[in-house]
Amino acid sequence: MDLELTAEQREIQSLARAFADAEIAPNAAEWDRAHGFPREVLAKLAELGLLGVCVPEEYGGAGADFLSYILVLEELSRGDAGVGVTVAVHTSACTLPILQFGTDEQRRRFVPPLARGEGIGCFALTEPGAGSDAGALVTRATRADGGWRIEGAKQWITNAAFGGTMLLFARTDPETQTARGVSAFIVDTEDVTITRTEEKLGLNSSVTNDIAVDSVVADDRMIGELNHGFRIAMSTLDGGRIGIAAQAVGIAQAAYEVALRYAKEREAFGQRIADFQAIQHKLANMSMEIDAARLLVLRAATLKDRGLPHTEAGAKAKLFASEMARRQTAEAIQVLGGYGYTKEFPVERYYRDAKITEIYEGTSEIQRLVIAREILGRT
Ligand code: CAA
Repeated sequence: MDLELTAEQREIQSLARAFADAEIAPNAAEWDRAHGFPREVLAKLAELGLLGVCVPEEYGGAGADFLSYILVLEELSRGDAGVGVTVAVHTSACTLPILQFGTDEQRRRFVPPLARGEGIGCFALTEPGAGSDAGALVTRATRADGGWRIEGAKQWITNAAFGGTMLLFARTDPETQTARGVSAFIVDTEDVTITRTEEKLGLNSSVTNDIAVDSVVADDRMIGELNHGFRIAMSTLDGGRIGIAAQAVGIAQAAYEVALRYAKEREAFGQRIADFQAIQHKLANMSMEIDAARLLVLRAATLKDRGLPHTEAGAKAKLFASEMARRQTAEAIQVLGGYGYTKEFPVERYYRDAKITEIYEGTSEIQRLVIAREILGRT
């Protein structure tokens, strides 16, 4: 595996970093308080090609590879993890599965508007009674005139209120109660009703909705084979988890940078606190663990770019990076002491934002299950 980024990857990374430094990070505290970022941020991201980084040019994207997109997610999340997840779900969990599993007609119809940011993508799998056990979902799709009537409710849907396109999973075989008998549909968000906007511990600038659906969609909205949609969900999450791992690395990197700067400036007992071994060890651990997580992310993204299996590598990257981010954002607070616990510094926000990376797109417990199954074989 090549550890050197290509010139194109470095260029896209710099573009995202410059945008995050100029337009995202300075506003992140305000967006956290306001529980949202302005829609124009998405317009600017689209203008820079960052809403379709790894979408081929013929479908309106920037035509870069998956690793470039992952580098962008780290940089955006370093600025604000809420913006990071918005782009992550839009891209990995909606645009890319349509590209991968859609017919040519579906790709041509649905991908370009997403890549151009005219609509924002969402992923509607989770339900009130189906989180980790996603295969227990009960939203159903039954045959109706000219298509499918979809009826049910979905929970914690990132981006739903922005409006755009939703990859939605529904049970098409009422005889099964498991992961089998589920199909995937491309649904317009105008065909669902937002029933709730969630208040969260962190990631406040992103929007998380509950939705209800009772709509008829045309036959050509089914993506992939009848009753085989769960494989699409799982394969989508295999890639999505690499994105969440990159998000976690970005959050931890931001916390590390604040802690490092503070340690060099703050004095106690007549010297910089960076001169105390207790603080040096914390900074050394942060730097090492961020590096380790970033390498796992790089490996998983490279495997995906090469078309090789990446279920295990993605789960390991997500598991390690998310737990690392929770640990190291807590350590950053510790370096700043009382200041770290206040809103005068951003590290308390990084700590709140980091926590979700251990939960969404599969909890740490599910990542361990996925890794164990890859090692031992599915039983
Ligand atoms: N790739 C392709 N197919 C896969 C797969 C993979 N990685 N893993 C499983 N499958 C296939 C299986 O082969 C099987 O296919 P067949 O029926 O055709 O044989 C089917 O999927 C069902 O697989 P399992 O029997 O293994 O399913 P399971 O019920 O045991 O569940 C699980 C497995 C890993 C626990 C799964 O339910 C899971 O990943 N749960 C976590 C859900 C999750 O991550 N939710 C995140 C929500 S989205 C989100 O958070 C987005 C956001 O807003 C940020």
